[in-house]
Amino acid sequence: MDTSFLLLAVLAFTWCSFAIASDHSPLQDFCVALPNSPVKFGTHYTIPTMYCVAVLVNGVACKDPKLAQADDFFFTGLHKPGNTSNPVGSKVTPVNVAQIPGLNTLGISMVRIDYARWGINPPHTHPRATEILTVLEGTLYVGFVTSNPDNRLITKVLHKGDVFVFPEGLIHFQRNAGYGNAVAIAALSSQNPGVITIANAVFGSNPAVSDDILAKAFRVDKKVVDYLQSQF
Ligand SMILES: *[C@@H]1O[C@H](CO)[C@@H](O)[C@H](O)[C@H]1NC(C)=O
Repeated sequence: MDTSFLLLAVLAFTWCSFAIASDHSPLQDFCVALPNSPVKFGTHYTIPTMYCVAVLVNGVACKDPKLAQADDFFFTGLHKPGNTSNPVGSKVTPVNVAQIPGLNTLGISMVRIDYARWGINPPHTHPRATEILTVLEGTLYVGFVTSNPDNRLITKVLHKGDVFVFPEGLIHFQRNAGYGNAVAIAALSSQNPGVITIANAVFGSNPAVSDDILAKAFRVDKKVVDYLQSQF
């Protein structure tokens, strides 16, 4: 095999498997994600090496900038309430690079969150983004927990027009604390913030985390763990 090809292949592999916690600053005006390119970030995926070398920027292939259209930067539908008929009574409608290909490399995205009466957005983290949230309707009790060893809970009751920040990576939640539905809009500092819902990840993983590990970690009987695992 030709040496320069080998070097290129090694370089390509390094480029493809390089993982970062937050989005890079863009190096060009925009890089509209091509529809068939892998929009699965935060995971190591395998794609043909030469394809990767040629066009991948921040994880996806870019459309030729001359062919970019207004619709590459557009989404409609955030006026529609999400369906909150589910066990937690909330619904997140995401608008990230999966919905707007033009967001690729730009390090920002948005969500609409609907809350039924007493609905919660359960404790979760965004591994790649800080979140700034504003209440459009209703009242929310919100909070986040600082990292070890303090694990301090910081909470606030928010009313219409209030704004609150959830720092990158920290576990946070919202609960509808009003008498009707609540609606919030949040911006996140990643084109693909990622979500780890704590209960689902810990008790609903596939395959399941061994119940003796979880029993020890949570200092409960295995039966309690088995019950919790059966709920997910
Ligand atoms: C909302 O979701 C529930 C549960 O999945 C479903 O039964 C219901 O039809 C949905 N409602 C609407 C308006 O889509």
